Amino acid sequence: MNLTEIKALDAKYFLEVFGERNPVCFVRGEGCTLYDQDGKGYTDLFSGIAVNALGYHHPVVTKAIIDQAEAGVLHTSNLYYVEPQAKLAQLLCENTFADRVFFSNSGAEANEGAMKLACKYFYAQGSKRYKIVSADHSFHGRTLATVAATGHDYYQEPFRPLLPQGISQVPYNDIDALRAAIDEETAAVMLEPMQGEGGVTPGKAEYLKAVRELCDEKGILLIFDEVQTGICRTGAFYCYQNYGVTPDIMTSAKGLGCGFPIGAILASEKVASKISRGDHGSTFGGNTFACAVSLAAVSYMIENDFSAVAREKGEYFMKALKGVKGDKIADVRGMGMLLGMEMDASLPAAQVARALLAKGFVAGTASGNVLRLAPPLIISYEEMDAFAAALQAVMDEIA
Ligand SMILES: Cc1ncc(COP(=O)(O)O)c(C=O)c1O
Repeated sequence: MNLTEIKALDAKYFLEVFGERNPVCFVRGEGCTLYDQDGKGYTDLFSGIAVNALGYHHPVVTKAIIDQAEAGVLHTSNLYYVEPQAKLAQLLCENTFADRVFFSNSGAEANEGAMKLACKYFYAQGSKRYKIVSADHSFHGRTLATVAATGHDYYQEPFRPLLPQGISQVPYNDIDALRAAIDEETAAVMLEPMQGEGGVTPGKAEYLKAVRELCDEKGILLIFDEVQTGICRTGAFYCYQNYGVTPDIMTSAKGLGCGFPIGAILASEKVASKISRGDHGSTFGGNTFACAVSLAAVSYMIENDFSAVAREKGEYFMKALKGVKGDKIADVRGMGMLLGMEMDASLPAAQVARALLAKGFVAGTASGNVLRLAPPLIISYEEMDAFAAALQAVMDEIA
């Protein structure tokens, strides 16, 4: 099928939630390069929204997929023991604060589970705390509870009054606003240590430390949503490790499967000890296939210190982006290999992304008119240089 035919099918049969998509259909990938149907190559700096940390056709990921497929067991359900599930849980616990893990199929589903864990933690102690406070400009997913937690009108407006009850937002990086929002029914604060969709906005170190202290003072839980920032992306295995601020519950997805859909809820024993049989579950979550792929990919990334890779390449890339000249560039920010370039109001970041696509480079956007870059961590220095040169050319053409 050619692109016109695919577009026609999509327009006729697919729910119109994505509107007009970028005019390309990628059919093959190798390293950091995606190929369209005509064999044209595009250097990818977005990783399918911060997912493909090991790029495309990575031998470790490919081998895990083939091996598990050849073993003939993709799924058995959680009624039986699943070896890669147990090993992946161990790997995540040994490399984070967490003592126990539960696997889901997506980031939103992990966040739903995290909120359930927080409520159950208090219910088990006879407390009526159930409310969750999150931040403006946050993004936590598209299910009902995660839309209620996502601090953005665009996502919430069509679904008001929001379900479930008791989830509210306060300004990010504002400790006084958070303190004022917590009452005797608050169970948890849920934050991204660095907001991704919201504009690639890092949490301030003093803010995140103060949030932890506030949660301890009030006896409530701190949930970090590390769906976008996890798995080495920001220069640490999880972003909270850059800050030295430890949550009670954390969620993960995206890079966790390097392209295979999987999410995780990680919890300290304090929280996990209050969760009992029947409190949560999933048919697909943590299935053999997903866990085998994730286990292979994440083990490889830990063994090869991809956190250091993201730190070193991120520093280089940040410098390269800051070297791009253009009077419409308002700011360059981020951490590790999750970087954002804010454009001033006269230049939509989406227009820049489209111009880059035409030049053979895949970039993303985020709220606040930000060009968002989350390259595969295997990207080469030459590819980063080539991107910076293409971005400079775009800025020169637009100026
Ligand atoms: C911080 C954060 N949380 C949750 C989600 C939702 O994840 P998913 O799309 O896998 O449900 C996203 C997705 O972009 C995210 O960036």
